[in-house]
This record gives sequence, structure tokens and C-alpha cells, in this order.
Amino acid sequence: MQDSWTETEKLTAIGTMAAGIAHELLNPLMGILNFTQYCLEKTAADDPRFSVLQDIERETKRCAGIVQNLTTFSRIEKRSEEEYHKQSLPEIIERLVQLLSYRIEKEGVRFTWHVAEDIPEVWIRVDGIHQVLLNLVTNALDAVAVSAKKEISIEGYRRGNFIEVTITDSGKGISPANLSRIFDPFFTTKPVGQGTGMGLTVSRNIILEHGGDITCRSEPGGGTVFEIRLPLAAKGGPG
Ligand SMILES: Nc1ncnc2c1ncn2[C@@H]1O[C@H](COP(=O)(O)OP(=O)(O)OP(=O)(O)O)[C@@H](O)[C@H]1O
Ligand SMILES: [Mg+2]
Repeated sequence: MQDSWTETEKLTAIGTMAAGIAHELLNPLMGILNFTQYCLEKTAADDPRFSVLQDIERETKRCAGIVQNLTTFSRIEKRSEEEYHKQSLPEIIERLVQLLSYRIEKEGVRFTWHVAEDIPEVWIRVDGIHQVLLNLVTNALDAVAVSAKKEISIEGYRRGNFIEVTITDSGKGISPANLSRIFDPFFTTKPVGQGTGMGLTVSRNIILEHGGDITCRSEPGGGTVFEIRLPLAAKGGPG
């Protein structure tokens, strides 16, 4: 993308593209979902394929959610209250680790996580927060892929009325010039076809939507830390 585009021009172009992608992807995704649900109906619950089908159903729904996020990423909006649920952080992290375990093992990454015991459940849009953590850990996996030390950790603590989640990696780090641009739409340093540069843009909007914030500290060669702060009574919750 040319550097001289204004912010409004960029957002208009992105909005048009996102709407196009959503239109193209939502229909086939709904097809997959329907076929999966048909197969689930025809499969006994004790059949080993049943839980695989459930996985496909859940992940397809999540894809549809991601596509919908793309279409609305330039607006930070309060979602309907029904989309927010009280959820424990460890459960989300466990699901994430399950999803990424193949890549973590295959690439020999030392992955650790720790959530403080006094962390209460939080009102969050579960798919949204799952997507944020997935984006951040995927970035961390990409960053450690090219470094000798391959360590990634997630930590969760309570700080007053906020929950703080940090994702730390021992990867290649980010130069100061790039650090100021990582949340920009379409900013990527990955080869064409490997990154769209939308992961952090979407993640940041999801966190802002919850009334929280996300920051990053990094040094070239010194690894990277992303810090997420979520209010205990997130926007969608009753508090
Ligand atoms: N943990 C990290 N370590 C080093 N660089 C990172 C890290 N996280 C993000 N970056 C840098 O920020 C850029 C933008 O990240 P972002 O997730 O928005 O897009 P992407 O990963 O390139 O593509 P995708 O849309 O697939 O996520 C990356 O291309 C990379 O240069
Ligand atoms: Mg990314």
C-alpha cells in the first residue's frame, strides 16, 4: 500500500475489501456449518468422530465471527449484552493451548502459562478474547521461529479493578520504527501470503470494545511483551 494514502482513504479501501471478503466467505462457512450439524445429528455421541465434528462446528462458528469482526473493525461498538459471558481465563487459555499444541510441539517451543488464583471470572465476549490471544500467540510463534531461544509465556494477574494478561516471547523483537506501526491496519513485515497485517488491528479493537487497552514493549533481539488490561466489569457485563 502506498504511504501517501490518508487515514480516511485507507479505511475506506479496507472497509470495501473487508465487506467483499465477508460476503465471499460467510456463505461457504454457513454451508460447512450446516453440513457439520447434519453429520452431528447422524452421529452417536459415543462415536469417536462426534467430538471431531463438534470441534469443526466450534471452529467454523469462530471463523464466521472473525469474518464479521473484519467487516466492523473500523468501528468500536458496544455489542449486545447477550454476547458477553462470565468466563474464567484459564478455560480460554486451555482451549487456546489445545488448538496450538501441534504447532508448539512441532516447532520445539517451551510454552508456559500461569494465572493467579485470585483472578475472578470476567464478563467478556469469549470468541473475541479467544481471537485476541490466538493472534498474539500466533505472532509470538512466528517471532520465536527465527530465534535460537524459543520461549512463550502467558501470565494473568489481578490489578485492582483490572485483569492484566501478558504474553511474553523470546523472539526476534521489534525495531522502534516498526513498534509505532504494529497496530496499523495492514502493517506487516511478513512475506506476501503469510500475513495480512490485520491481527493486531482487530485485536486492539476487540480489547477497546471491552473497555480495556493493549500495549507492547519490545527490543530487537530482546523479545516482546504484549500487555492486555481488561476491566473486571467489562462493558457488556451487568456491572
Ligand atoms: N511477538 C512479536 N514479535 C515480533 N514482531 C511482532 C510480534 N507481534 C507482532 N509483530 C510485528 O507486528 C506486525 C503486525 O502484526 P499483526 O499480527 O497485526 O499482522 P501479521 O502477523 O503480520 O499478519 P496477520 O494479519 O496474519 O496477523 C508483524 O508483521 C510483526 O512485524
Ligand atoms: Mg498476526
